[in-house]
Amino acid sequence: MRVHVADHPLIAHKLTYLRDKRTDTPTFRRLADELVTLLAYEATRDVRTTPFDIETPVGPTTGIHLSNPKPLVVPILRAGLGMLDGMMRMLPTAEVGFLGMVRNEETLQAHTYTNRLPDDLSNRQCYVLDPMLATGGTLAAAVHFLAERGAHDITAITLLSAPEGIELLERDLAEITPPVTLVTGSIDERLNEHGYIVPGLGDAGDRLYGVI
Ligand code: URA
Repeated sequence: MRVHVADHPLIAHKLTYLRDKRTDTPTFRRLADELVTLLAYEATRDVRTTPFDIETPVGPTTGIHLSNPKPLVVPILRAGLGMLDGMMRMLPTAEVGFLGMVRNEETLQAHTYTNRLPDDLSNRQCYVLDPMLATGGTLAAAVHFLAERGAHDITAITLLSAPEGIELLERDLAEITPPVTLVTGSIDERLNEHGYIVPGLGDAGDRLYGVI
């Protein structure tokens, strides 16, 4: 797996306010949205493109545009939804598929409860959105789900990651080719005994949408 920590002062600044427990839900949502846009810029460095001939008012030239099929963006419900708008701002022509995964808070195992994805993902470039890479179980299950359906070239984007989660992904996704890429805003210290990232930001879904 290729791991890219998007080490930029604007990202660190926004992450600081995102982590702060005094940050209210509307501000949290806006910061998450802005962070994803910045992370998307890094994550799409290898997005597939095709040469494209145009004419400027001055003369002909060849540029590029995104290849078909367009990339597939897959937010993991529910917290990944908080990253969708920021990603789509950078890739407005991408398709969107949904993967509903939840972890059992006792076993910490991920379970897929719904999906809405194209049937055939053959050779499809995918961007998976999940704000918190904690134990790694959810993201590993999501990547396997997509890879088994033919997805090729999978990038996961997280706001924060725990070293334990990265280690699990390194082990669990080692067979997938080309290697999965992880783009994250920060690698934090560790997980606590409840599976929360330390220092982290608490429960991302609760902070985005309120506790339900
Ligand atoms: N999920 C969250 O929302 N927060 C964590 O710290 C870990 C998993």
